[in-house]
Amino acid sequence: MNLSKRARTTSPGDTAPADDTLQYTFASRQTASAIPKYVIPNNGEPAAVAAQLIRDERMLDRNPRMNLASFVTTWMEPECEALIKEALNVNFVDMEQYPSCTEIQNRCVAILADLYHAEDLGAKAVGTGAIGSSEAIMLCTLSMKMKWQQRMRAAGKDPSGLKPNLIMGHNVQVCWEKATRYFEIEDRFVHLEEGKYTLTPADVAPLVDENTIGVAVILGSTYNGEFDDIAGVAKELDALQERTGLDVPMHVDAASGGFIAPFSYPDLVWDFKIPRVVSINVSGHKYGLVYPGLGWAIWRNAEALAESLVFHTNYLGSDQPSITLNFSKGASAIIAQYYMLVRLGRDGYTRIMANLRIVADHFEQALVRMGHFKILSKKVGVPLVAFSLTDHPLGHKRMYDEFQLSDKLKESGWVLPAYTMAPNAEHVKLLRAVIREDMSRALMDHLIDDIKRAIEYLDHHLSITPKQLQEYEADVIEGLVKKPPFGRRLAPSKSFKGVC
Ligand SMILES: Cc1ncc(COP(=O)(O)O)c(C=O)c1O
Repeated sequence: MNLSKRARTTSPGDTAPADDTLQYTFASRQTASAIPKYVIPNNGEPAAVAAQLIRDERMLDRNPRMNLASFVTTWMEPECEALIKEALNVNFVDMEQYPSCTEIQNRCVAILADLYHAEDLGAKAVGTGAIGSSEAIMLCTLSMKMKWQQRMRAAGKDPSGLKPNLIMGHNVQVCWEKATRYFEIEDRFVHLEEGKYTLTPADVAPLVDENTIGVAVILGSTYNGEFDDIAGVAKELDALQERTGLDVPMHVDAASGGFIAPFSYPDLVWDFKIPRVVSINVSGHKYGLVYPGLGWAIWRNAEALAESLVFHTNYLGSDQPSITLNFSKGASAIIAQYYMLVRLGRDGYTRIMANLRIVADHFEQALVRMGHFKILSKKVGVPLVAFSLTDHPLGHKRMYDEFQLSDKLKESGWVLPAYTMAPNAEHVKLLRAVIREDMSRALMDHLIDDIKRAIEYLDHHLSITPKQLQEYEADVIEGLVKKPPFGRRLAPSKSFKGVC
């Protein structure tokens, strides 16, 4: 390839000498030129150079394994990575050409339906793979809306002039707000308040009317990992039905909890064991332990799924229902999920979830011992630790908050997000560490040390000790008494440890 000619025609401003004989990435003219950002370049680049330039851009990102903001898988076994790579060029939707992928999806659906105690099982299990829980939730919401329309028509009412509504807690993930807005459904929120971060059974019934398409409950809040009282909500809705005849379905958003509860809390009643639960979503790419790009929607039975959501194909010689928002998609994630189910089995998932809880508890205890934090997550829930700063144990006035602590930790490479609670409790600031499979206790000990160091630093530079505060106050008072308030510096001359 003649780099010197291309250099002349494509980059007039390029001053680096080109050398045809030197095939060396950082000796190429491209590494001394601006990277194309907004317009496709006329000519291409050698593969190694293009790859290096892009790798360099990516190098500035954070290390995914140190990103404790995310629930999404950041480590998989090399054997599964090989399977993923082998299927990278497979479009899942070409069912006739790649029947094994469809079969594998159906097996995953059946396994999840069985795990969640659905009514239709085995080859009859009803569900689909999706890009994530968000797509799965969109599909389940649409199904609930269509079922409500059917119910209204059956009751002799025209649903077209009516506004359907969905009840949910303010602790929902943003995908629920998207679902209601995209599909023209009124969102009826149960409000939260300080100390109450889930929807509680008593909240729900007062919001229900005949246009309620369903109640969305969460098995693992994004905010603090807590599970809604799903059985309790169902009980309240049973009582409501007895009183009013309104029969309101429930959907369980088990994005995180769907791969935790069956293994860590097998006695918890949250799934299709509750007759009112019509559908469940779960993210394969969270505690399903698969890399990003996979969610699942599972319905109780064929009747629970709105027929008009389903497109039928018979590429495989038998009826293959297709329920997705998108058409083409990769097959790798679905194959990876099947690998994980076969590879780990119940025992493997149970052991991993138990380890995560041990590491989460270890972290929680270390935070409590530091004396600076209060814990906002629960023992039963997603293995994450959500925590806030307390009043300073030595009575310092903190001039920093959770956001500054989060920023400080970034310097050691950790992404420990700070955020505010859901509406009505948004004055509560917190930090959250999601414990994923690849967070060993050894790695956690490094995080603990880095948090201690960060607090020491912030205390030193951004807090005022009681003694300093006293001196400052005395100084100010003295200044006001002895000298006229104007024309004098009110701040004391000695330097404070930080801002004042
Ligand atoms: C409770 C809950 N629901 C839904 C979602 C959206 O899931 P996904 O990222 O798989 O689309 C999340 C993501 O964090 C979540 O925590």
